[in-house]
Order: sequence, then structure tokens, then C-alpha cells
Amino acid sequence: MVMPRPFTLLQLSDSHLSADPAAAYRGQNADATLSSLLPACRLLAPDGVVLSGDVAEDGSTAAYERAGQMLNDLAPRTAWIPGNHDDRAAMAPVFDRLGYQAGPLLEWGGWQIVLLDSAVPNRPEGRLDEARLAPLDELAPGRPTLVFVHHQPLAVDSPWIDKYPLTKPERLWSRLDARTVKVVAFGHVHQAFSGERQGIACLSAPSTVANGQPGAARFTLDPTGPKARWFRLWPDGRWLSGIVSAG
Ligand SMILES: [Fe+2]
Ligand SMILES: [Fe+2]
Repeated sequence: MVMPRPFTLLQLSDSHLSADPAAAYRGQNADATLSSLLPACRLLAPDGVVLSGDVAEDGSTAAYERAGQMLNDLAPRTAWIPGNHDDRAAMAPVFDRLGYQAGPLLEWGGWQIVLLDSAVPNRPEGRLDEARLAPLDELAPGRPTLVFVHHQPLAVDSPWIDKYPLTKPERLWSRLDARTVKVVAFGHVHQAFSGERQGIACLSAPSTVANGQPGAARFTLDPTGPKARWFRLWPDGRWLSGIVSAG
């Protein structure tokens, strides 16, 4: 039997671009590290890209414009959610003009893609209220689903970032059914994390600029460089995921 071709989804996270393209983020240059990662991303030939927040460090229009220039020809479809460092009011007009999708519910490759906004202005931790969770009430039961949210909905065992999680995560978990939702994907933690809750995979995308060594009490730069997460999604609900790095 011939397997149907999977949908390749690339998750890029925590790029932390600034208005000043020469700015440093944790000792790295965000433009240079993102650029260094793109050739390996192109080899994956993604059908869709999800930017899972902290696209900008400073919420500036200039940073979103430059992100758009760098990513615009990467895939036929691009979607986004904001992170705690983003400014949705600055981000939306730039990404709307580029045709990037804000969801909150997309259909990609036979999967339902849910884009949840957990960012709270001027707060490092995340929050989902009833209005933000409402897209989960619209899901077709039993159709494979991937949920994106910026903040981690479970501890990743790194104290420096577990201080700033998705608060009241039970609001999310009480709405998720493993018969429909296969994966919850997040950013924010600046490392590759893989876990499970309620039979649902919990996967983070590492940062395209600076990652921390897992388990560290304080942020300690991982010297292995910028990374991103990929998914291959089959319409029957099977999936694979892995990490792409610049090297
Ligand atoms: Fe971040
Ligand atoms: Fe963040």
C-alpha cells in the first residue's frame, strides 16, 4: 500500500529579533543565528511554518518586518502565535499583510491546527482564559489535532524557565482528549523538551537564537547552536517529529 504523502510542518520559535539588527540576545545575534538555520530548514521542504512566539525581543514593527523578509519564501503557508516578548498589535498588521495566518483554527494536511494565544502584556508567564480556549470547543472529534501555545503547559524541569509557565494549565488539559489531540507543541523554554500528559505528547521547539542546557537552575547557554522542530503529519493521525539544527 502506498502511504499518502505527509504534511511537513516546521515550528520556529523564540527568534527574539530586535529593531536593531546588530543587537545581542544572550550573547548571540538573533538575525545571524536564524539565517544560519534556514538552509537546513529549506532541506525539509516544509508545507507550513508555525512561528510559536517571541518572534521579537522588543515587540517592534522593524523586527517583525525583518522576520517576514527572512522567512517569506520558506513555505507556502505560515501561521503565528505571540509570545510574552511580542506585541500582538505591532505583529498582526505586518503578518496580516504577508498573508500569515493567525487561526485560531487551521486545516493543514488533514490535521486540525489550533493556535492559542497565551501571552499577557508585560508578564513573563502565560494565561488562557475562556475566550482564548474557545477554539478547542470547535474541534471535529476524532480528527487528528496539533495544538500550539507559547508557554509550557507542564514543567520541563528547568527551574529558570519553570518559574514562568502557563498558569492554571488544568484549564487547558481539562479540554483536551487524546482521541483527538495528538500533540501539544510549545516554545518559550529555549530547549528541546519531550514529555507526555493524558496520553498526549508534549513537545517544545528550541530557540532559533539561544538555548539553555536542560535542568540548569540558571540559564546556561547550550553551545550546540540554534534549532527548530519539524513534524511530519499523516492524514490518518500518524506523526513523527524531530529537531533540525544549523550544523
Ligand atoms: Fe523566548
Ligand atoms: Fe517566551
